[in-house]
Amino acid sequence: MNTFELAVAAAKAAGTILERFFHEGAEVRSKGISDLVTDADIAAEREIARMIHAEFPQHAILGEEENSGRIDAEHLWVVDPLDGTTNFAHRLPHFAVSIAYLYRGQTQLGVVWNPMRGDLYTAQRGHGALHNGKPIHVGPQTQMSEVLVGTGFYYDRGVMMEATLAAIGDCFRQNIHGIRRFGTASLDLAHVATGLYGAYFEYQLSPWDYAAGQLLVEEAGGRVTNCDGGPLPLHKTTILATNGSLHAQMLPIVQRHLNSWRNSTSPAAVK
Ligand code: IPD
Ligand code: CA
Ligand code: CA
Repeated sequence: MNTFELAVAAAKAAGTILERFFHEGAEVRSKGISDLVTDADIAAEREIARMIHAEFPQHAILGEEENSGRIDAEHLWVVDPLDGTTNFAHRLPHFAVSIAYLYRGQTQLGVVWNPMRGDLYTAQRGHGALHNGKPIHVGPQTQMSEVLVGTGFYYDRGVMMEATLAAIGDCFRQNIHGIRRFGTASLDLAHVATGLYGAYFEYQLSPWDYAAGQLLVEEAGGRVTNCDGGPLPLHKTTILATNGSLHAQMLPIVQRHLNSWRNSTSPAAVK
């Protein structure tokens, strides 16, 4: 199996585990205020790690739950075994497995698998992005008044949450069609890649949330930066993903409210 075939196989195997827990019920625990984890997250990550190490024993894995591979490893897999745990725990069937493979720090491929809908999103660097095998492209819109905007809230319930709400208000003042908060960052990025959203932003994501989805958006013709307009680092970061045309219009909005949060005295998260 090559890395791409392995990523797809591991995402599907993890998805089967998630589906089983979803139907049979999983025990939910709290990692922090409103930050949940279930047996399904752990079991799915274990299966992905087992499959990767069976094929490539030397490769490092950075996973949300149990695997803390070094981000400077030559071969690195970045894994969110269950993106959308809050949905999963509340029995909302909208969650995904997200797997990216990086060679020397550069993402080579990304796979996002929504097991409940059978939606497979894949991207390989330089070869475009696909949804269930068909090429996908970001939307053509050039005006905010033509699109939906996706967002998400990290587990902070303080200034970062307020900054997100304020940015949403500014988006509405641009007459967008609507805001969506579906609770699964990797699928939000897939929605930008397929043109369902014109833009998506969030004030804190981790590499496992965005690594695969970022490549989907870029290979589908869109643009992904942090909320200052710079490249994403391979650690906690703000994120703005757009169809490209809307980046210049969204950036001042997300940056303005990020700055108001930075200037606050809140200790929360990345800033
Ligand atoms: C979360 C989801 C959510 C986003 C959060 C993420 P998790 O991931 O992607 O949509 O708003 O910032 O942490 O915890 O369900 O894997
Ligand atoms: Ca996640
Ligand atoms: Ca997760």
